[in-house]
Amino acid sequence: MLKGKPFVKWAGGKRQIIDKLKEYAPDTFNTYYEPFVGGGAFLFELSPKNAVINDYNKELMNVYECIKGANKFDKMCKELNHHETEHSEDYYYRIRNMDRDKKRFNRIADYKRAARTIYLNKACFNGLYRVNSKNEFNVPFGKKSKVNTYEGQNLGIVCGYLNYNNIRILSTDFEEAVKDAKKGDFIYFDPPYDSDTSTFNSYTEEGFGKEEQKRLAKVFKELDKRGCYVMLSNHNTKLVNELYKEFNVYVIEAKRNINSNGKKRGKVEEVIITNYKNDRTFNN
Ligand SMILES: C[S@@+](CC[C@H](N)C(=O)[O-])C[C@H]1O[C@@H](n2cnc3c(N)ncnc32)[C@H](O)[C@@H]1O
Repeated sequence: MLKGKPFVKWAGGKRQIIDKLKEYAPDTFNTYYEPFVGGGAFLFELSPKNAVINDYNKELMNVYECIKGANKFDKMCKELNHHETEHSEDYYYRIRNMDRDKKRFNRIADYKRAARTIYLNKACFNGLYRVNSKNEFNVPFGKKSKVNTYEGQNLGIVCGYLNYNNIRILSTDFEEAVKDAKKGDFIYFDPPYDSDTSTFNSYTEEGFGKEEQKRLAKVFKELDKRGCYVMLSNHNTKLVNELYKEFNVYVIEAKRNINSNGKKRGKVEEVIITNYKNDRTFNN
């Protein structure tokens, strides 16, 4: 089976540590839940038959919805062709600034918004998704003379995956997204990173601070009691170690590509936390 890969580059994308995540995932499970799915690197790698995927970011989840809907997918692809043909610096800023008038923006067809999100992600500086306090996309032009929005067959493969399997797409808060999870289901949490110092961690207009990390730990513990397999990744911070001290904490090294300060790129310690041991990790 051909596996898809993320159709957008996303801050905190998990491609770098995908092998580690696989190593620590449970051997078998029922439904897969990914409440902070972002670009979906791990979702596509596992390609489970039954999954519930979620992210607070409405523009992003609208793209998953449009790739899944056959009619919408065709229309979205036509829009992508148009963006590729018209691509220039001026055109980029025209498309980017469509969200400045909220009333008009909200009336734009969902497949057009989806194509805009993909196009901006490919054409902007560093493939970053960033909005300001008014929820306006504010990343400057990436100076590429050509953009490749489909990445070969990838969009088609992702479309096949979302359609031929039982995939529920949500856009809500993580706590709500896992409320139906049952014994034997597998939940992978990849929240916005905690930090010991303060760095870039605001993906949505909401932000995700220490209180949110604590609320997430409560949800993790509740799912543990329910008999779910729960895995979480985060930075190796004091708070994270404190919140999950009764679980298995594995420290791993990851390379980070997206950082607002180029000099800070490099290796950072991350942790993978699980409430179970599988055949591969049993002796660790
Ligand atoms: C570290 S990123 C996930 C990256 C993803 N695993 C990937 O491979 O691209 C965290 C995600 O959490 C989302 N998010 C932030 N607050 C949230 C909330 N309260 N509920 C659900 N999702 C949220 C952000 O929009 C962002 O996409």
